[in-house]
Order: sequence, then C-alpha cells, then structure tokens
Amino acid sequence: MRVRPETPSDRGAALAVIESAFAAGATGGRPVEAALLEQLWASPAYLPALSLVAEDDDGAIRGYVITTRARIGSVPSLGLGPVGILPEFQGRGIGSLLVEESIYRAEKLGETSLVLLGSPTFYGRFGFARADERGVHPPDPAWREHFMIRALGGNRVPVGAFRYAAPFEAL
Ligand SMILES: CC(C)(COP(=O)(O)OP(=O)(O)OC[C@H]1O[C@@H](n2cnc3c(N)ncnc32)[C@H](O)[C@@H]1OP(=O)(O)O)[C@@H](O)C(=O)NCCC(=O)NCCS
Repeated sequence: MRVRPETPSDRGAALAVIESAFAAGATGGRPVEAALLEQLWASPAYLPALSLVAEDDDGAIRGYVITTRARIGSVPSLGLGPVGILPEFQGRGIGSLLVEESIYRAEKLGETSLVLLGSPTFYGRFGFARADERGVHPPDPAWREHFMIRALGGNRVPVGAFRYAAPFEAL
C-alpha cells in the first residue's frame, strides 16, 4: 500500500471510496460526504498536495482523505476530512496511514495546525486533542470532545473560532 497525492484521474475512484465508506451511515441516497467532496475539489480551499489516496500494489484505490484550508480566527489552519476506506479494507491500518501521512505532509508544507471532527479514541492516537479546551471553538458547540486539533511542527495552537472551508457550512 502506498499513499500519494491524488491526480485528476483518481477522482472517480476516490469518490467511489467515500460513497461506499459512508453508505452505511446514509439514510438512503447518496451520502452527504460525497457531495461535500465534489464541492471541496471545486473550492479555493482545495489543496492538491493534501488530497491523498491509498493505492494498493495492483494500482487500486482503497482509501482517500482530503485536507482543506480552514481558519482559526484569521490564522490559516487546516481541516481534515472526509476520510474513508472501502468497507472490505477497513481495520487493516489504511486509515491510520492516511492520517499519519496527512500530518507529515502538512508539517512539511509549514502548516501550523490540523483540525477534525471525529472519534477521540481513533484520532487521539495520532496526537489530536479536544480543541475547545485549548481555546479553539467549533462551529457547533455540541461537537465537544469530537472536535479535535493537533499542533504541527512544534507550533503553538492559535485561539479563536474555527471555520472550515465554505462547502462544510452548507452541511
Ligand atoms: C474510520 C476509518 C477511516 C478508519 O480507517 P481504517 O483503515 O478502518 O482504520 P485502521 O485500520 O487504521 O485503524 C483501525 C482502528 O480504528 C478504529 N476505528 C475504525 N473506525 C472507527 C470509527 N468510526 N470510530 C472509532 N474508531 C474507529 C478501529 O476500532 C480500530 O481500532 P484498533 O486499532 O484499536 O482495533 C474507516 O473505518 C472508515 O472509512 N470508516 C467509515 C467512514 C468514516 O467513519 N470516516 C471517518 C469519519 S471521522
């Protein structure tokens, strides 16, 4: 398995991964994460270097993660997600690889913080911690411990209100 930035020809496979990873949670029809992904690709917040596929030895795409430009107050930050793994390939470490690679690549790009909404148990192992207790406030206060931040490159986390890329606001 190798993780690399997506190319335009990966988009169909990446979308299929997100559609099937989130299908179980959908109430019928297409999961909202699929439409969100298409909007993020078309958004100025899209960062090609942080849009990653997990590619199997046979060239098939098994997992996908996108990280887009966000802000804490007026300071640039990053929002990670959606991330998804094909259901039959979940639980084999691919999601962990994608999260670790996102952190590594964002740090190399000089980014200072990475934020997400997710499971504290899963993301805690990558150094993410509850954001509101560090002064970074989610768009929805009900997110509580699921809204998490990780400082990058030894930087201090800025404080303020977090804003995802615009397509998230329509969710
Ligand atoms: C969540 C997801 C990206 C993790 O990827 P993965 O390749 O299955 O994860 P890994 O194999 O690297 O890690 C597995 C660990 O994650 C945990 N895990 C998987 N999905 C989880 C979830 N939704 N919530 C909490 N923990 C989860 C597993 O219990 C396992 O824990 P263990 O190592 O203690 O056994 C993947 O399962 C997925 O696509 N799920 C459906 C879509 C989704 O929920 N996306 C994330 C939204 S935040």
